[in-house]
Amino acid sequence: MNLPDTTDVHPAWLPPEAFRAIGSRRVRVCGDDPLVETVRREVVEACASYGGCLGGEDGGPVDLVLALTTHGPAAGSSFGPEAAECSGTLGAEGFLVARRRGVTLVLADAGAGLLHGLFHLVRLGEGAFGADRPAECHRPAMGRRMLDHWDNVAVHPVMGQVERGYSGGSLFWEDGALRADLTRVRAYGRLLAACGVNAIAVNNVNVHATEALLLTDRLGEVAALAEQVRPYGIRVYLSVNFASPMVLGGLPTADPLDERVRQWWSATTREVYQTIPDFGGYVVKADSEGQPGPFAYQRTHADGANVLAEALAPFGGVVYWRAFVYNHRQDWRDRSTDRARAAFDHFTPLDGQFHDNVILQVKYGPIDFQPREPLSPVIAAMPATRVGMELQVTQEYTGHQLHVCYLAPLWSEVLGFRYWGPDGPAAAALIEGGGLVGVSNAGDDPFWTGHPLAQANLYAFGRLAWAPHLAPGTILDEWIDLTFQPATTGDPDLLRQTLHAMMDSSWQTYERYTAPLGVGFMVRPGHHYGPDVDGYEYTSWGTYHFADRDGVGVDRSQATGTGFTGQYPAFWAQRYESLAECPDEVLLFFHHVPYDHVLRSGTTVIQHIYDTHFTGARQAADLRELWGRIDAAQLVDPRLFARVAERLGEQVRCAEEWRDQVNAYFFRKSGVPDALGRRIY
Ligand code: GCU
Repeated sequence: MNLPDTTDVHPAWLPPEAFRAIGSRRVRVCGDDPLVETVRREVVEACASYGGCLGGEDGGPVDLVLALTTHGPAAGSSFGPEAAECSGTLGAEGFLVARRRGVTLVLADAGAGLLHGLFHLVRLGEGAFGADRPAECHRPAMGRRMLDHWDNVAVHPVMGQVERGYSGGSLFWEDGALRADLTRVRAYGRLLAACGVNAIAVNNVNVHATEALLLTDRLGEVAALAEQVRPYGIRVYLSVNFASPMVLGGLPTADPLDERVRQWWSATTREVYQTIPDFGGYVVKADSEGQPGPFAYQRTHADGANVLAEALAPFGGVVYWRAFVYNHRQDWRDRSTDRARAAFDHFTPLDGQFHDNVILQVKYGPIDFQPREPLSPVIAAMPATRVGMELQVTQEYTGHQLHVCYLAPLWSEVLGFRYWGPDGPAAAALIEGGGLVGVSNAGDDPFWTGHPLAQANLYAFGRLAWAPHLAPGTILDEWIDLTFQPATTGDPDLLRQTLHAMMDSSWQTYERYTAPLGVGFMVRPGHHYGPDVDGYEYTSWGTYHFADRDGVGVDRSQATGTGFTGQYPAFWAQRYESLAECPDEVLLFFHHVPYDHVLRSGTTVIQHIYDTHFTGARQAADLRELWGRIDAAQLVDPRLFARVAERLGEQVRCAEEWRDQVNAYFFRKSGVPDALGRRIY
């Protein structure tokens, strides 16, 4: 098997030139394992392009050794005590890098680790072959780093081929059939491995009739996808419909405590493993937005998850059970029902009742992937449950990949949030067992992600799942250097500085020109692009801002509101409850305040709304200006330059629309003029 040939597709962060440093060396690869074979193939290909060679294991001179610790005399022992000590402690995916006396060493206990080590060398480039470097061990902070694909097999009449997909069609299916050519799936697996992802769920969490068949009649398609990504250490998962025993098995019930249902899941799962021995497990969206679930049988979500978990356990599989359960048919007149409370209310009473191989998959915020939300209190409230966190890489609420919005700064804040105050653990530590899940933003677009700069979000997701402490700016520079530097013919520093300046704070820019102070939504219902301040205000979805002539925001306090603040540990419960201490950026998520309420920043709420919207829209225009300064020829790929330029035009237009609608709306409600006398319509 050769490396995937995807000539017409943008190479993203693995352009051939990124392998120059490795490919011009004398390399030895030691070990027998399918993933070590992948490493060998990568090295052979790189050497064929850049004049290096893959030597035998016979002791000739080398510049680079990539070895399994299980292979022969500990290669690490000549690299100092640190290297020798690391052997056997690196785990399934960890690796060690060291350099001594002109030889670079990558050591791993298992093939996957060696592959991650190889991609680490790619990131280091020539830096891996300079001065001596002491042994450095790298191990992933989380063992589970998964991308969920909301891909449909058949084109859905409303949601299309990929639900909330902004990158063309699915990489896997087209018009109801598995793609005949899966070369891109292999290339995708390679890109994911190179940023640290090790699992994909291949189909939509909303499992419609055709997609349900993937578990049984169409399992061969899942096996074909697994075959493509297996050489890169990536396992495949499947979203399944909770009612499968009825829909596929012809049973009269899907009651998780019914013996026939149990047997059906067990027999079906056995067949899955007969076909795909390294299958990862199931993802389930149950009792959520119309999907079937255990509530229909008066069973709990622990009953529901456990029946699947029992079926998977003999094979080492897990079930990702989503906590996104809320009433989407509520009456907007009913002020007592608070969607933010729902996951906590449903799931925390079940803490300790889930089997070990259940991962409760919790969206990072209590509502739904808004550009700003407080963290979900569920993550801190279930110590006896394996909890995983879900992020949205696809830009459903952050500009549909038409806007530049680099999301790593948001994710980094989220992962670093300390529920119990500065002395407590960061959220990243609470999800070590369940890991990080991201809804993928990739599709069959030649640039993978619609907006070429949205590739950085996919890359950063993997890097943060591997190492949550990495600074978003550092990850961004890594991505820029890998993606653009090796091939650029212009001034590399200018290119890097420009891209960095455009992207690093683009999430804050997006936040400024959209819904203010954490109140959320205000997007057009259905597709969720562009402004519509009252779009969801009188609907059943439970996402409101309650603006009137006097003020705006949702009272979620315990004193006078829905009591949501009480779901947090004391440190944050107190701060969110207190109008004086609540952080500005989430003030309207927690409180309904008058327009002249003075924020901690010293500005009134209404003036903050005007200021941020004028600033945000201007910053969107600055992005376009910055891009214009790049000499297109430097980028090598003029198509990429044009694609970004075109999308920046739309971002500027849309940001102005947001500015004008939000400002006009609040001016008309409040009657308070802008202190700076700017134009409000
Ligand atoms: C959002 C999104 C849906 C998706 C849902 C989910 O509500 O708009 O398309 O199905 O999240 O996460 O299940």
